[in-house]
Amino acid sequence: EKGGYDHFMLKEIAEQPKAVADTLLGRIDASGRLTLDEVRIPDAVLREADKVVIVACGTAFHAGLIAKYAIEHWTRIPCEVELASEFRYRDPILGQRTLVIAISQSGETMDTLMALRHAREQGAKVLAVCNTNGSTIPRESDAVLYTHAGPEVAVASTKAFLTQLVACYLLALYLGQVRGTKWGDEIHAVVRELARIGEEVERVLETMEPVRALARSLAHKDTILFLGRHVGYPVALEGALKLKELAYMHAEGFAAGELKHGPIALIEEDLPVVVVVPSPKGRSVLHDKIVSNIQEIRARGARTIVIAEEGDEAVVPFADHLVRVPATPTLLQPLVSTVPLQVFACELATARGNEVDQPRNLAKSVTVE
Ligand code: F6R
Repeated sequence: EKGGYDHFMLKEIAEQPKAVADTLLGRIDASGRLTLDEVRIPDAVLREADKVVIVACGTAFHAGLIAKYAIEHWTRIPCEVELASEFRYRDPILGQRTLVIAISQSGETMDTLMALRHAREQGAKVLAVCNTNGSTIPRESDAVLYTHAGPEVAVASTKAFLTQLVACYLLALYLGQVRGTKWGDEIHAVVRELARIGEEVERVLETMEPVRALARSLAHKDTILFLGRHVGYPVALEGALKLKELAYMHAEGFAAGELKHGPIALIEEDLPVVVVVPSPKGRSVLHDKIVSNIQEIRARGARTIVIAEEGDEAVVPFADHLVRVPATPTLLQPLVSTVPLQVFACELATARGNEVDQPRNLAKSVTVE
């Protein structure tokens, strides 16, 4: 049932190109328009929404953080993202024009379920992004956009995460389409790119051997840090979470711009630091800033592991290890840049003798608060 792989996690990582393609299937027509008929919330309601609030836990929360960049950029609707466990206990401001998006692979996570119940009690419309047909969260929501990752068995979420991203991008683009905001060349280019992103994920998977070797060489380390900016910041958080849950290592993700506000004090000789570099095109200011962040940490002894687009030459002099990912539109980069971090964590866990599919103390679906 593991299809020749040692672990379900490896199988599920390898299934990502298909999972992504399946989640797109039938949702973009030949002219590049989105048809999300299953989103039963009437277009009029979507047009009038004045706020989007995303609630989720763990990896699904990281997908939500990335979705915020896309939703606000493409639709200009303010978007908040909150851990489901925090949301419900802080008396959030919700109304009939609030669209709540609950993201959950299992559809059974208690904190997310309680958050959506609370939101509906306040009159908000709730749309679930979910991977499990007929589970509780979609049943209790006003609408559901299913991810088609197929069953995810390994406790650590991989293919579900990538499909959550795809579903969120589709939703953001659909909201843009319905509202007519920013529906221009950029959106068309993104839709075209999204339609072929599965192939790019496949290309990343084909080049993972050096990442595995690097992971094995770092198996004795105590701490690994992750830095990112823009959509690379939630990717850094996700990379750190994978490492905690699988390798049982101290791993933390930071926004690279926050370095000088504290975390840079952690940098010491030979500390591995993974840096997720945003696309150099279109956002050159941001890119320049992260290049100087890499220089800063390297000057203080960090061993830099740089994840950067093909053709990004500016990072080369400062990368002790360079992992290339295909160039994509800025907002879509997490679909390719997360993959090496999944492989990295899986290999580190294996090298440390950990049980990859069943990490200690964790359950696949958290049905208690
Ligand atoms: C991490 C992981 C967890 C889940 C979280 C939410 O790899 O799997 O952090 O993402 O428990 O679960 P769902 O998406 O089922 O609500």
